[in-house]
Amino acid sequence: MFHFRKSNLMIIELDFRQESMFCQEKTTAVPLVFQRGYNRYVILLINLEALVDLSKHAFFEGKIVPWSEAKINIATHGFLYGTTVFSGMRAYWSEEKKRLFIFRPYEHFRRLLDSAKILSMSIPYDEQGLIQLTLDVLRTDNWQQDVYLRPTIYKADMGIGVRLHNLRDDFSMFVTAFDKYLSNDTNAHLTISSWRRIDDNAIPARGKISGAYANSALVKTDANRAGFDEAIVLDQDGQVSEGSAMNIFMVRNGILVTPPATDNILEGITRRTVMELAREELGLQVVERSIDRTEILIAEELFLTGTAAQIVAATKVDYRPIGSGEMGPVTTKLRALFDDVVHARVPKYHNWNVEV
Ligand SMILES: Cc1ncc(COP(=O)(O)O)c(C=O)c1O
Repeated sequence: MFHFRKSNLMIIELDFRQESMFCQEKTTAVPLVFQRGYNRYVILLINLEALVDLSKHAFFEGKIVPWSEAKINIATHGFLYGTTVFSGMRAYWSEEKKRLFIFRPYEHFRRLLDSAKILSMSIPYDEQGLIQLTLDVLRTDNWQQDVYLRPTIYKADMGIGVRLHNLRDDFSMFVTAFDKYLSNDTNAHLTISSWRRIDDNAIPARGKISGAYANSALVKTDANRAGFDEAIVLDQDGQVSEGSAMNIFMVRNGILVTPPATDNILEGITRRTVMELAREELGLQVVERSIDRTEILIAEELFLTGTAAQIVAATKVDYRPIGSGEMGPVTTKLRALFDDVVHARVPKYHNWNVEV
């Protein structure tokens, strides 16, 4: 049984035999001094990574419901087989305008519907319908802070049988308070992962498919356990693809370079945004081409992009400093510009900010 207080503090009551369930690396569990009932603890759980507030609302099975009621059955196909596609979007609170703005929701929903198409899914909403629904969910809780949104399309039927056809599809979405994804986003130390990126002919990275994130989880956990902030993943051909949940850019000879959409990457919305801002506002030449592993090591600058991660400066790879070993000028400028754009401070890009 869960009781929630603030967004990142919660009081939970649980059977002590289940305590290990909650011992994630970024979770601090503080047992309170009193004990209640037989075999039960009341503990204060401070989860630094995933902020879950069940008093808020979610969209589930066609309507807005309290998050605590948005539950799927353990036999749901999407849960059993990873036959779920999703997106991660953000809405940013503008202190100046006292309004919340969703960042590029049309593009996120376009990609979500494309991912759904790959898994032979269909739902009765188009991009505009999904934006309207997102506005309704956000307005229900009157969010006045930066939030992260997780829309999901999943195979909703229950039962055994691996396939994509003859199964019902459904849509869900929750919203959560969210700050940084990588705590160190100004001088991250990366490693080259020993895991390879899933191939387009295995599980397409282009589709944001839940099951494929076992690949990202292997990459991330091994990198963190070895003391790195993140990892760079190579594809089956040994070319740089991306990070565990973010795209990658390097500055080499003054040119901004990122792997093309055909090198087993997720076609990131932040990637697209950064390419446009770099060309338009910094006057940089931006090139999409395959990147060799060793090019990364001799690049002038290196950074990762993603909705959750935003723009993360990577200043070391496998103990080798990148460029000067400190965040470079291109990364610094793009981070500042991106922050202004997502917070609706740049009129030229207001069409990317959808007011709630
Ligand atoms: C594997 C992967 N690559 C890249 C990205 C960045 O994509 P976006 O900028 O659309 O969030 C993500 C984040 O969702 C991701 O999971």
